[in-house]
Amino acid sequence: MVGNDDLAARMDTSDEWIRTRTGIRTRHFVSAGMPTSLLAAEAGARALQSAGTADVDAVVLATTTPDRPCPATAPEVARRLGLTGRPAFDVSAVCTGFLYALTTAAGMIASGAAEQVLVIGAEAFSTLIDPQDRSSAVVFGDGAGAVVLRAGEPGEPGALGRIVLGSDGSLADLITVRAGGSEQPRPHPDADPADRYFSMRGREVFGHAVTRMTESARAALAHTGWQPDDVDRLVGHQANLRILHAVAEQLDIPVERLVIHLDRVGNTAAASIPLALAHAHETGELTPGARVVLAAFGGGATWGATALTWPALKSA
Ligand code: UT7
Repeated sequence: MVGNDDLAARMDTSDEWIRTRTGIRTRHFVSAGMPTSLLAAEAGARALQSAGTADVDAVVLATTTPDRPCPATAPEVARRLGLTGRPAFDVSAVCTGFLYALTTAAGMIASGAAEQVLVIGAEAFSTLIDPQDRSSAVVFGDGAGAVVLRAGEPGEPGALGRIVLGSDGSLADLITVRAGGSEQPRPHPDADPADRYFSMRGREVFGHAVTRMTESARAALAHTGWQPDDVDRLVGHQANLRILHAVAEQLDIPVERLVIHLDRVGNTAAASIPLALAHAHETGELTPGARVVLAAFGGGATWGATALTWPALKSA
């Protein structure tokens, strides 16, 4: 675990700045050489146990930090889980990745291609961050969370509503790693060394995040027919406490109904929503039948939201 004071000891920041500007107190960083697939497999194993099953028909992994640029990381995660032979692939939508992966899994189930899909969000974001970039280094953390999505009846606890998604490629520069892809495969002699690190224009992202998370949550609510007051828990992408409060206020959902987990883990990108769900399940904030709204915004830009009722689970 890495506390705010640990970061303040190695860069120009303070516990007070991080807590008041973001709400974050601690986060986790992987140790050197620990791949995303290991984090993902651990979360996947717990989700399988919680769902009371050892097998699924597919593995979908949302990540921004694959083990390697090629191949995808999900087949390795499936191998680690004893699921070799099952279809397994990655989905890339940065902090909205979990909702995009959930949509893919729901589509596989609706089409009859699968009955049960393991959906994982896993990130080793610390491997992308410039350790001297105080604006990103204090915000992001590493972690993984997972769920098992299975075929069921629309009215049963655990039923997933319509997932509303969107994107705007004109905002790609707001959250980016410039180098290492086909556009800039090898360091150019004139390239800025910072190009190989993650960069985020935080203040601009903040505004888009509030607007898009609010709009998509409203659209997801409209599909279910729920009013804001019907929502028991709002689980937003855990980027910044001030963003979560602003979204809740704009939606007219009391801030007491927000699930807050970022104080412990920071912004874990695609892992953020499934980790927050697991935390809220463990603390008893989520009980079977609870009406839950999920909403996220991330690089791309991408965004999305959905509404669901919480299922009866065996364990966390
Ligand atoms: O996960 C995908 C979606 N991501 C998000 O939604 C993140 C959205 N953005 C944010 O959460 C916030 O913009 C940040 C937490 C990243 C930054 O907070 P901010 O309140 O927007 O700060 P800022 O970037 O506007 O910077 C304000 C001041 C600046 O100083 P000056 O120019 O006013 O003198 C920064 O240099 O705070 C300074 N600053 C810091 N000071 C101490 C920036 N980072 C730090 C730091 N410690 N770590």
